[in-house]
Order: sequence, then C-alpha cells, then structure tokens
Amino acid sequence: MPRDNVVVGLDIGTTKVVVVVAEPAPEGTFHILGLGEAPSGGLRKGVIIDIEGVARAIRGAAEQAERMSGHRISSAYVGLTGPHVGSINNRGVVAITGPGGEVVPEDVERVLQAAQVIPLPAEQRIIHVIPRQYIIDGYDGITDPVGMCGARLEVEAQIVTAAGAAVQNVVKSVERAGLSVEELVLSPLASSLAVLQPAERELGSVVIDLGGGTTEIALVSQGSLWYAGVLPIGSEHITSDLAVGLRTPLAQAEEIKREYGCVPASQASDSLIIEVPVVGTKEKRKVSQRVLASIIEPRVEEIFHLVKQEMEKSKFPGLLPGGAVLTGGGSLLRGMPQLASEVLALPVRLGWPGGMGGLADMVASPLYSTAVGLVSYGVNRIAQGQAAAARESPWGSLWIGIKNWWHDLFIGIKNWWRDLF
Ligand SMILES: Nc1ncnc2c1ncn2[C@@H]1O[C@H](COP(=O)(O)OP(=O)(O)OP(=O)(O)O)[C@@H](O)[C@H]1O
Ligand SMILES: [Mg+2]
Repeated sequence: MPRDNVVVGLDIGTTKVVVVVAEPAPEGTFHILGLGEAPSGGLRKGVIIDIEGVARAIRGAAEQAERMSGHRISSAYVGLTGPHVGSINNRGVVAITGPGGEVVPEDVERVLQAAQVIPLPAEQRIIHVIPRQYIIDGYDGITDPVGMCGARLEVEAQIVTAAGAAVQNVVKSVERAGLSVEELVLSPLASSLAVLQPAERELGSVVIDLGGGTTEIALVSQGSLWYAGVLPIGSEHITSDLAVGLRTPLAQAEEIKREYGCVPASQASDSLIIEVPVVGTKEKRKVSQRVLASIIEPRVEEIFHLVKQEMEKSKFPGLLPGGAVLTGGGSLLRGMPQLASEVLALPVRLGWPGGMGGLADMVASPLYSTAVGLVSYGVNRIAQGQAAAARESPWGSLWIGIKNWWHDLFIGIKNWWRDLF
C-alpha cells in the first residue's frame, strides 16, 4: 500500500478512537480518503488508564482507515487532552541580529525560546508555543516579522502545557499500536481548526467540545488561540444521572438519552411516554420525556456554568462577537445550543467539520471535529515547512513547485482514471 502524501489525524477520546486519513490539496485544504473508528475503553476523563486497551483500539481504527483509504498508516498527528492541560500567556523579548537590523528566522526562534521561560510545576511540560502577535520596536499586530527592520523583537505567545506522565502514556499507546507520533496537538485546538469559520477566528469565538468524559474549551481571537482548558466532565455524566434517576442500566440510559433526551425541560413533552427497563427486574416503568429532561437539565446547566467559569479564568479582555460553537458528540443532544446560549449569554451554534473534499460526508458530524482538526493542523504544518524550506534556498521554491505540479498531475490522472470506471 502507498504511504506517501497522506496526513493522518488520531483522536483518542474517552468513548472512541478515530483515525482520519487525508491527502493535502492546494491552498491548505485536503481530501478525506478514509475513516476508522473503534470504542476506546481505556480512558477516564480524557486520560489513559489502560495502555494496552487503548493501543488495541488504535490498531482497530487504523486498520479500518487503511482499508478504506488504501494507504498504509505509519504515523499520525495525535490529539492530547485531559484536565492536566494548562494554558499561559507569556512574552519574550530579544535584540534583532540580522544585517541592517532585519529580522532573520533565528531571531524568531530565539524570541519564541524566550517566551518559554516560565515557572512550571516539575511534572508539566510545554506542548505548544503559539505566537499571537509579534512586536517590533513597540509596533504591534505583526504576524510574520521575518524581513522587517528594527532593534527589538517581542512576541506575545500562548504556552500550552500538559502533564509529562499523561503525554508519555499517549505516546506509548500509539507506539504500541505500531504507529509513531508525528506531533502531539491539543485536542480543543484541533477542534477549533475544524469548526470555526475564518470570520469567527478573527472576531473572537469560543469552541466548546462536549465529549464523553471531558468538556474542552478553546478561545480563539485574531486568528490564533487565546486560551484552552479541559474540564473533567462530559456527556457520560448525563448518562449516569439518567441511569441512577431512572434505575436503569447504563446501556439503556445511553440509548434513551440519544433517542428521547432534550433540554431545556420546558420544551419537553408530557405526552411522549417512554418505557424504561428497571435494573434487576423484568419490569418496565413508564416515564414522560419531561421527566427525562428534568434529570438531564441540571447536569447540562452545571457543565455550561463550569465552561463560563473557565472562560472567566482566561481573562479575555473583549467580547466574543463570534459567539460560541458547540461540537463533540455531547452537542448532539436536542436543544443544547439553546440552553448553552441561556447560560453563557452568547449566540451559540452547532459546529462540525466542513470545507474539505473527498469523502467529506463521512466525517461531517460533531463527533469527528477533533480528528479532522488534527488533519488540518498537519496539513498546515507541512505547508509551513515547505514555505520555510523555500525561503532558505532559492532552489527550494522551484523544487516544491515541481513537486506540487507532479503531485497535482498524478492526482488528476488518478481521478480521471477512477471517473472512467
Ligand atoms: N445523538 C446524540 N445525542 C446525545 N448525546 C450523544 C449523541 N451522540 C453521541 N452522544 C454522546 O456523546 C458522547 C461522546 O462524544 P465524543 O465522541 O465527542 O467523545 P470522546 O471524544 O470519545 O470523549 P472526550 O472528548 O471526552 O475524551 C457520549 O457520551 C455520547 O453519549
Ligand atoms: Mg473528544
């Protein structure tokens, strides 16, 4: 099986492991080639507790994705999540050293290093340094300082940290599944890349990824990440509230939640009656949808109140004109955007991946936002690497141009051949 020219996203979630295979296309877009999915099992609240179990799920999902895409998978951009994730704003300052006071790539590297000098608890390590803006001699709002002139280069950057042990367990699980980690990427950052429109990224928006065991938050403004946080609470808590409240097994509670669950309770029906199996007996109890909704509602309100508190921790100075975008499997509960909007006092919409080609329909659901976002991150990284190579060597851009031309020609012939049959 061929293995070149594909980008793979691997989302290790509390309830499921997802592998998405894609092929980069011009202008930062990509074509989805394959999807694989397996129940995960070995995680609690986003953190791995059973490496072998998770490795098995990764292998299962990767094999499915390989069969569908016809490409062998050897490495992936892997999502990282859990309540141990931290997000700190910091500044770095250096003197500009290029000839004639021109900023050279080494200056940018040094200023990003300077921004990483922060006191960290021993077990935390840095996983991302995301420049929000560069400042040259007091002039701010610069996104690419290379080639500009001045004496003093500053950067304002978002430093994302995670617990070293949790990071190691993710890497171990992936390696035990026979893959290597291309890069670890914060899951809410990935989700934000998949679901936000360019205008929302510029204006300021918050992405809330409601998963099974976690609720992840990414606050994005002026095109880059402002803050990220992960709460150890998710849609599985709603299921267990229903199981306890209705005295029914978890599997039935899950089914009832998906089929009949809704919020706010005021929108639920008194006349829609559901038969609920009672644990330990052969009996079935009759329960109205309104009773279900009255069990679900307080938990959903609690989740969005915690989201609000987490957003306050970010100390974001402005408003969020882009509003909130809800994604993740938990967002599929009926009425979620309405209740979220009431608690957060923001406009809220549902978000799922869009804007890509190929088998895009297969991943057009809030369930796949993180996995598709990981692919989007990977595609951007590859493009950045190519741009840097082109900048360093005058022959680089020519070579990349030839390579891209050959690649496009090959894809064109491949598609023509496929369409012929
Ligand atoms: N149609 C639906 N209605 C209500 N809830 C749903 C629906 N579909 C899925 N869910 C819930 O979504 C949750 C799973 O979401 P998701 O797949 O995003 O989580 P995950 O990525 O595995 O977990 P996490 O991100 O927390 O590590 C489950 O708790 C499930 O009950
Ligand atoms: Mg998830």
